[in-house]
Amino acid sequence: MDTPEIAPFIHYLIREAETDQTLSLKGSDWIIRPYREGEETAREIWNILVSDYPDFFSIIDMAGRVGLHLPSILTGKKTLEDIISPQPVFSVPIRLSLGTARRHKLGRIIQEMIRRSQDTLPTGRRFSVMEIGHTDPLFVKDAFRVMDMNRCDYTFAADTTEALETISFLKEQYPGFESRLFGNSVDTATGEPPAARPHLILLTLDFTSTAESLDALDFARSQLNPGGTIILTGLRPSFWADFTFGAHPGWTFSQRSTQYWQRQLAEQGLVCGDPIELSPGDLSDIFVLTARLREETVVSATPHKEINRTWIVLTDTRDRTSGLSQSLVRHLQKRNDHVRCVPVEKISDYKELLSETIRESGRIDGILHLAGFSSSIDHPESQEYNRARQQAHRCMVAARAARACEETGADTTLWILTNEAARHLIPGTNHLPGQQRRHSMPDDSVLFGFARTMMNEASHYTVRLMDIILPLNGMAPLVDAVINELEQADDEQEVILDHNGERFVPRLRTASPAEASHPILSNNRIEEEGETVALGFQFPGQLRNLRWEARPQPPLEKDEVDIQVHATGLNFRDVMYSLGLLSDEAVENGFAGASLGLEFAGVIVRTGNESGPLSPGDRVAGFGPSCFASRITTKANAVSLIPEGMSFEAAATIPVVFLTVYYSLKHLANLKEGEAILIHGGAGGIGIAAIQTARAMGAEIHATAGTDQKRDFLRLLGVTHIYDSRSYDFAEEIMLQTGGKGVDIVLNSLAGEAINRNLQVLKPFGRFLELGKRDFYENTRIGLRPFRNNISYFGIDADQLMKEHPALTERLFSEVMEMFAQGILYPLPCHVFEAEEVIDAFRFMQQARHIGKIVVTYRNGLKPMARPSKSKHRSFSSTGGTCLITGGLSGFGLKTAEWLAEKGTRHLVLISRSGPTSSEAWMAVERLKNKGVDVLAVSCDVTDRHALEKLLETIAQDMPPLKGIVHAAVVIEDGLSTLMNQEQIYRVLAPKILGAQHLHQLT
Ligand SMILES: NC(=O)c1ccc[n+]([C@@H]2O[C@H](COP(=O)([O-])OP(=O)(O)OC[C@H]3O[C@@H](n4cnc5c(N)ncnc54)[C@H](OP(=O)(O)O)[C@@H]3O)[C@@H](O)[C@H]2O)c1
Repeated sequence: MDTPEIAPFIHYLIREAETDQTLSLKGSDWIIRPYREGEETAREIWNILVSDYPDFFSIIDMAGRVGLHLPSILTGKKTLEDIISPQPVFSVPIRLSLGTARRHKLGRIIQEMIRRSQDTLPTGRRFSVMEIGHTDPLFVKDAFRVMDMNRCDYTFAADTTEALETISFLKEQYPGFESRLFGNSVDTATGEPPAARPHLILLTLDFTSTAESLDALDFARSQLNPGGTIILTGLRPSFWADFTFGAHPGWTFSQRSTQYWQRQLAEQGLVCGDPIELSPGDLSDIFVLTARLREETVVSATPHKEINRTWIVLTDTRDRTSGLSQSLVRHLQKRNDHVRCVPVEKISDYKELLSETIRESGRIDGILHLAGFSSSIDHPESQEYNRARQQAHRCMVAARAARACEETGADTTLWILTNEAARHLIPGTNHLPGQQRRHSMPDDSVLFGFARTMMNEASHYTVRLMDIILPLNGMAPLVDAVINELEQADDEQEVILDHNGERFVPRLRTASPAEASHPILSNNRIEEEGETVALGFQFPGQLRNLRWEARPQPPLEKDEVDIQVHATGLNFRDVMYSLGLLSDEAVENGFAGASLGLEFAGVIVRTGNESGPLSPGDRVAGFGPSCFASRITTKANAVSLIPEGMSFEAAATIPVVFLTVYYSLKHLANLKEGEAILIHGGAGGIGIAAIQTARAMGAEIHATAGTDQKRDFLRLLGVTHIYDSRSYDFAEEIMLQTGGKGVDIVLNSLAGEAINRNLQVLKPFGRFLELGKRDFYENTRIGLRPFRNNISYFGIDADQLMKEHPALTERLFSEVMEMFAQGILYPLPCHVFEAEEVIDAFRFMQQARHIGKIVVTYRNGLKPMARPSKSKHRSFSSTGGTCLITGGLSGFGLKTAEWLAEKGTRHLVLISRSGPTSSEAWMAVERLKNKGVDVLAVSCDVTDRHALEKLLETIAQDMPPLKGIVHAAVVIEDGLSTLMNQEQIYRVLAPKILGAQHLHQLT
């Protein structure tokens, strides 16, 4: 044999054929069982599968093509890659078998688990999800849809770097997405803190071999948190997968049974739950197992070594640390650590303090800056001036300590402990004690900000921030947490410890526009609020601009029905419209108007008084405007009942395509039995519908398609005259095939020169049915010569037909649906996308690689990302009030004044300490006045409460009410943080802190 790599496949096929007795060995000869009369042929079975399972078309198509080319594969003339596009073969079967509906169902189960777990999380704990697989994460979308990234972590682990590189784009799409590699060797007890272990592992067995799948399971088990759950999704031994992929050299024909994997999970010490059934009496090739690790299972972690350390604690003579420094010192000393607790007032030389400690102890493990930690709590009513000075002092101490680290070369960590500076970052902080003690002055936020600058400037030493929320009583858990932080510091530079010692770290992530502006709306709530969520875009041009928008539901007219949409068919018109490639003229004259989506399947919710026999609860398919939506309102005569047993997805493939085809072939062309028809784009939605309809009408079919894959599909459908639509040779070939006669009808969607070629193949009395829009809008010219032979030309746009001839549309559409009910026609193969993948769906159509139809479904409900109604916020300029700008006589403040004036503000107060003395300020004020703006430009120091008070009195007397303040006063003292003295720091802080405080209190 020339192709030894195909031998396992041949053996497999022989074994299977022997088992089902289509092949038997007689002596040394193989005998093929002869065809029995009345038995369905492979092609017939294939066509039944296509018609009955439109949403599993990919599987059926692949298996069909392998069957079609089996002789070439077995003789080594073709490889599997020549037949099915080069996808990562091993991950394909499990994904295809799972199918869209089951994947979404499993996704919802996973979402529910995550939601429940994160809702019951104790404060400060994080919930960790890990997905493990060989290619791309199957459930990443589902997980991120519900995970609160303030409390959840997500990691994808794969066994190859290629897989991780391929999915690296997901990091951009999902902030917080982490990925990691695991090798064949199991990553056992790494000593990672148990908190980093996943509580939920989603393991998809899409690996090349059982051995690799077992490695993945070992890895999952080694990572799982005690009490955590593994959801394992795998493929049962499956004939279709072995048949379709068996020719791949690496295929192992070794899928294991559900019981095998249940045993493996049990051997790993996991407690198996009931398998998840994704469809009733699930007979599919997919199994989903759940298994739990018992709580008491201890995962070994490296115990930390006992070491005696050296610390410097900076405090103050009055120990204004609420006892924290004393507790810390006691605890550290109990561990035999060496602690120097020094009031900063007594330090004359920080450098000497550090040098001396290093001389005595050999090193400094950490410096804790607690001096003045809670001085403002002790004196909440202290004058702002003092509190600003205290902050300047705290910053100065930090700067000096850092400078001493620099000067002594101490390789240490400077811990800056702040008091409630970052409390607002903790989710749901309102319940924390001490809320009653919050001050209007942010106090330690100043030091927090200053320390961030120090971190950036630190060289060989480290600066870390530890923000603390003091408990009202019982300091022990907090002190333990601080000690733990000191001893087991990780890479986090900013840590927040709450009153219970729970640890939080800040994370910056991109909130979705919906999160930022709206709570997530469920479909029910949308109905209550009389809103629908529909697909739209702010600007056309790019598919990424597509977004789900909340819109008011239009009132229901008497001849209309209100429908909850379950599935929407995507048309090329929608893609073109989103890309801005369709003129207004092209969309406005249609039934759907300037909106996205013109066909749907769904359930009637309400009916108008004169909407005919339809009633709420009816399953219908039809036409309407804005059909990518949760609810639509459309004319009752634009919908028709969905035949029994047909899914919404299947029904959504019907309206536009089949109405267009039926109108064209039956109503316009009057196709008669025995006539020949040329159908362009035979594997497209229109093409397949036309082949079905023309066949039902008894026509001889000639069809074109653009790729080998699509032409294979036509062959499998049973079309015998097939041509390449991308070559103009089709015309000559058709003339040859038809003995020079040509065809009676051309159903065209090709543009340009192809039109002339079509005219060449039309017989006298032929009908030319034009569906392509491009040539209409480009006003393409065609010569009239061919029309001398009684040829008719029809331009077709179903969208306009529905608008202009509703009665005709209703009649034709109900005839079409009747043909479906009778089983004469069947829905198109379809690729189903969930609403959150709508951009992927549009992209998929743009690539034009699909066969059949693309459908969008709403199983997960819809959440709006935007509410494009008119803003309720009035712009400042429209208030007619006065705007005060501190620092308004130069730089940013002055520019803001000019901008406000441009936008219509008529009354401005611009202040600085020096007033309008510079020529820049003076000229700017003159310019503003010349434009009719009432400007008060005066000297006023915003840190001087009395002066500001007087200014505000003047404004109140002489000007319209104060409606806005821009606080742009600033003093800049540039330099390294470590070189700053207290006065410099105070000079910078004063206008910002005192200024803001005074403005806040006086207005
Ligand atoms: N986010 C951004 O992209 C951005 C960009 C630019 C600026 N900014 C911010 O905008 C603010 C202004 O910056 P800038 O570049 O315009 O600075 P600038 O040109 O130095 O202007 C600052 C103004 O503040 C006044 N000022 C200082 N202390 C004052 C006090 N106690 N009372 C009243 N006025 C006082 C100064 O005048 P006197 O010295 O006469 O008092 C000066 O007119 C700063 O906070 C800066 O950080 C932000």
